[in-house]
Order: sequence, then structure tokens, then C-alpha cells
Amino acid sequence: MSTLARERRAAGRPVGAPDPVPFLDLGAAYAELRDELDAAALRVLHSGWYVLGPEVEAFERAFADWVGVREAAGCASGLDALTLALRALGIGPGDEVVVPSNTYIATWLAVTAAGATVVPVEPDPDTHAMTPDAVAAALGPRTAAVLTVHLHGRVAPDARALRALCDRHGLALVEDAAQAHGAAGAGAIGHAAAFSFYPSKNLGAQGDAGAVTTDDPALAERVRMLRNYGSRERYRNDEAGINSRLDPLQAAMLAVKLPHVHAWNARRRALAERYDAALRDRVPGLRLPVLPADAATHVWHLYVVRVRGGAPERERLRERLADAGIATQVHYPVPPHASGAYAALGLGPYPVAQRLADEVLSLPIGPHLEPWAVDRVAEVLGA
Ligand SMILES: Cc1ncc(COP(=O)(O)O)c(C=O)c1O
Repeated sequence: MSTLARERRAAGRPVGAPDPVPFLDLGAAYAELRDELDAAALRVLHSGWYVLGPEVEAFERAFADWVGVREAAGCASGLDALTLALRALGIGPGDEVVVPSNTYIATWLAVTAAGATVVPVEPDPDTHAMTPDAVAAALGPRTAAVLTVHLHGRVAPDARALRALCDRHGLALVEDAAQAHGAAGAGAIGHAAAFSFYPSKNLGAQGDAGAVTTDDPALAERVRMLRNYGSRERYRNDEAGINSRLDPLQAAMLAVKLPHVHAWNARRRALAERYDAALRDRVPGLRLPVLPADAATHVWHLYVVRVRGGAPERERLRERLADAGIATQVHYPVPPHASGAYAALGLGPYPVAQRLADEVLSLPIGPHLEPWAVDRVAEVLGA
């Protein structure tokens, strides 16, 4: 019997009829902690306290300690966390913010929501991250900040060099850590960092949520003021803020899940290594993600391969996988500059971002995916 068949039998699955492989099973994460999550939700419902308050404060304290910074300020989403971090840093109209040309559009949306201007920089095609040289070349008299993104769960390899560059030029470094909970350094390298707790993230809520982390208590205090209508004292509004408070129900869910994230990340890492062992040099036309020398710097939010031959070949591969019951996704098919949101600005061309958008394919990965599923994906890919 093959290893695959043995593992499937051990997992109680029929050998003859392959089970579908979901892209990510959010129900499994709930099932693992159901009793604790249910109890925490009921505690909030029974408390009569539904906006900010002790649940939010307790999670903020726990998350700051976990990230290794002095402060965490909760808010309603990762996009709001990015926007609030920029606004709290004083970035607004007339300022330029350096951003990667290849990122989820929320990175750019935060800059424009703050009233500032995006200055896109092409990434290194191998690491998918901006290099300090490319960022330095994009700096100008109006640059106020650099926004680095820990894409796919890997801390941007040059994040610390970018911090040094920003410090030398009196600029703010903001980390988009939406995909990198628990990666070594994530959230503690920049002057501020933004996390998303969207349900599919490595630490996900049961709905939308986000947080800003920082070592600067004054900055955290400004985020808390801006997230609450610009108010420090009820019905006194110092600035034109927004309503983006972390929901206590979500804070309670996140507090239950937080102690499990490192173990979940270890499972993701093991699956990424299994993909690497199964696929490397075995599937012509597939380029695999780099396993970083320091494994702790990558938490494998996504396992993203590149398909030589671009979008048409990728579609063929996706169909083959879908026919075998294997779900895949594309993160992301359209780079921000080419999206409807920014097309009118006429930015670009950004050939590296465009090429990545044409070639990337995300294979299933998650803390509750079983190893046999990786072997099955590899088998269908022809490894
Ligand atoms: C890189 C990146 N930045 C920002 C965000 C925005 O987070 P949210 O969906 O919580 O607004 C996300 C996730 O959606 C993301 O992946």
C-alpha cells in the first residue's frame, strides 16, 4: 500500500475515493476550540458590555505581549488598522507613502483613505518584497512613510534594513502584518504595524477585526482616540475620527485563539515543508516559494507557487486540481494599479507585479489540513 493510502486509511478515509481538499477549513478551527469559544461568547453576551471595555482591554494587553511590543490598539479591520496607524503618525494630504506594487489592495487603500499618495515600488521577483535600494530610489521630498508588507506570512526579508533606512531619513516605517501573526519580528520592527483578524488569517476572529501594534504609547493613544470618533472624553471630539472599535465579542474569540497560534503556525510550516519535499524539481513549469533560512520568519499564511506560462496555463492547472476536488485561489489576479480603484491614476507599468499576478497560484494550506491532502495535491500536479 502506498504511503498516501496508508495515511488516508489511518485518518479513517476510504482509499479508493479521494475526499475533496478544501482551500481552508474555518469550521475545523472552531470545532477544535468550540467549548472555550462558546463559553467566551456567552460571557460577553451575559456581561451587558458590548462596546470596548474589559474584553477589548484584556485582548489588547495579551496581543501586545505576544507580539513583543508595549501597546496594541484594537479596531474593526486590518484596513482600518493600517489607515489608523498612518493617520496617528500624522500622515495625510500632501504626503507620499512608498508601497509595494504587488500587494493586497488594502495596503494602498489605507494610504489613500488617510489622504496621502501611493508611490509604488516593484518587488524583488524572488522574495516578492521591496529591497532597500528600490525603496531608497523612490524617496523624495514629500515621502513621509514606507509601508512594508509581510506577504504570504513571511516577514519582508529586508524589513530591518528598511527600518534603518527610515530612521536615517526621519520617515515612519509601517508594517502590513495582516498575513504574518507569529512570524519572528512581525509587528515589532516598524514604528507601527497593522494586523488583520479576518477569519481566514493565522489568527482569525469570527468576523472582522484588526489591531495596531507599536512601542510608542502616545501613538497607541492616538489610534484609540481616532478609532473612537476622535474622542478622548465622551462627546468631546479633538479630531475627525472614525468609528472602528474592536468588538468585545471578537476580542473574546481572539483571546481564546491567541495561545494556539504558534502551534497552528508550526502545522502550517510542516505542510509547507511537505509541499517542498514533494514538489521541488519534480513538476516542470512550477516555481516553489523559498523556505527562508530562519524558518521562524515565515508562518505560511499562504503557500504560493508560480506557474510558468502565466494565466492561461495557471487556469488549466486550476481546472485539473478542481476536477480532482482540490480548491485553489489566486492572491491576487489584478495588481492594485490595474484595478478599477486606481486605473484612473495611470500608474505603472509595473511588469514584476503584473507577472506575479499572472503566475501566482495558492495551494491549500492551513492548521487543520492533513498531510495526506498535500500528497494528494502533489500527486495531481504530477509530482
Ligand atoms: C496584506 C493585507 N493587508 C491588509 C488586509 C486587510 O485586512 P482586512 O480584510 O481585515 O481589512 C489584508 C487582508 O484582507 C491583507 O492580506
